[in-house]
Amino acid sequence: MPRVPFNRAILTGAEMAYMQEAIANMHVSGDGPFTKRVHRLLESLVGVPKALLTTSCTHALEMAALLLDVGPGDEVIMPAFTFVSTANAFVLRGARPVFADVRPDTLNVDPAQIEARISPRTKAIVVVHYAGIGCDMDAIGTIAAARRIPIVEDNAHGLLGTYKGKPLGSFGAMATLSFHETKNFTCGEGGALLINDGRFIERAEILREKGTDRSRFFRGEVDKYGWIDVGSSYLPSDLLAAFLLAQLESRDRIQAHRRRVWDGYREGLSEWARRSDVALPHVPAECQPAFHLFFLLLPSLDARQALVAFLKARGIAAPFHYLPLHVSPMGRRFGGRPGECPVVESASDRLVRLPLYNDLSEADQQHVVEAINAFVPAVESTSRF
Ligand SMILES: Cc1ncc(COP(=O)(O)O)c(C=O)c1O
Repeated sequence: MPRVPFNRAILTGAEMAYMQEAIANMHVSGDGPFTKRVHRLLESLVGVPKALLTTSCTHALEMAALLLDVGPGDEVIMPAFTFVSTANAFVLRGARPVFADVRPDTLNVDPAQIEARISPRTKAIVVVHYAGIGCDMDAIGTIAAARRIPIVEDNAHGLLGTYKGKPLGSFGAMATLSFHETKNFTCGEGGALLINDGRFIERAEILREKGTDRSRFFRGEVDKYGWIDVGSSYLPSDLLAAFLLAQLESRDRIQAHRRRVWDGYREGLSEWARRSDVALPHVPAECQPAFHLFFLLLPSLDARQALVAFLKARGIAAPFHYLPLHVSPMGRRFGGRPGECPVVESASDRLVRLPLYNDLSEADQQHVVEAINAFVPAVESTSRF
């Protein structure tokens, strides 16, 4: 175990008490009292009419694909720099993922690249607010609205981030969240589907409950429930919702700490970064980050690998991130070729993430900052965009 791990999940307050209460409630299956409290809280935090907890962000994305009736012959545009689930959710329905390049400064999908990939088969546009910093939602919204193409926000990183003062997750027809243990707020494994376009709410409840109208039955709106659509079991146990509620109730403390760490990295590394030709995360003026990730973009793959090894030798875990999806074995089956998304290909080689978690101590962060300041990237040919 390194002295400073990349991530660590911690208890923030009432997790154990709430889980005990869930057991005492005799309702540990899905959609119990704690799930309902988390739904109301997420709806008010993001400003959306409906939030539904799911077993993961992956499953929330799968629900989005089902709700949009994505199928064979359809195309879905998404960044090539994202987690596999963004693509798999639509591939599972028989659609073709169309990968777009990202902006070199934010690593968020480039609106011009989306526009260039729209075809008569485009069924949806998926954006990812990388590191919890918002995409250019004005430009993407204009492009999508002109063609009436729905937007799905994969907001796995961005809960509580904003773009022009509006919460990330409130721009698309739908958005997804992740509560995996690496996220700012966690219940181990978990996620949510946020629904902005009211036309999808009723069917979303049915798909999530095995294709039945059981949610309406529990609300007393029908006197029996039955099989009325396709579906699966996407709802988590109320035990997980209880754990998650405690984490979300600690959000001010969690976010204040993550912000201090994030600012500490920026301040402690900016001079070294300037000297070493390293880029730090760029925050556009219209964005308030969710402080999910802090990353460095080194001048080359060799420099990145050397830094990772240098930090490892000092007890610091600093992992790379997504491999470009378009040139992965699956991406190539959809026609992906090297050179199609040059910014993603370059950034993926050069990016390293720094330890950032909810109880990272000042002393441990200082150890990371001092170690990085002592690292001198070798002078070599660079592979930047
Ligand atoms: C952008 C993005 N989308 C989706 C996911 C999948 O999240 P989950 O593990 O909750 O399914 C991740 C995982 O980290 C992610 O980074």
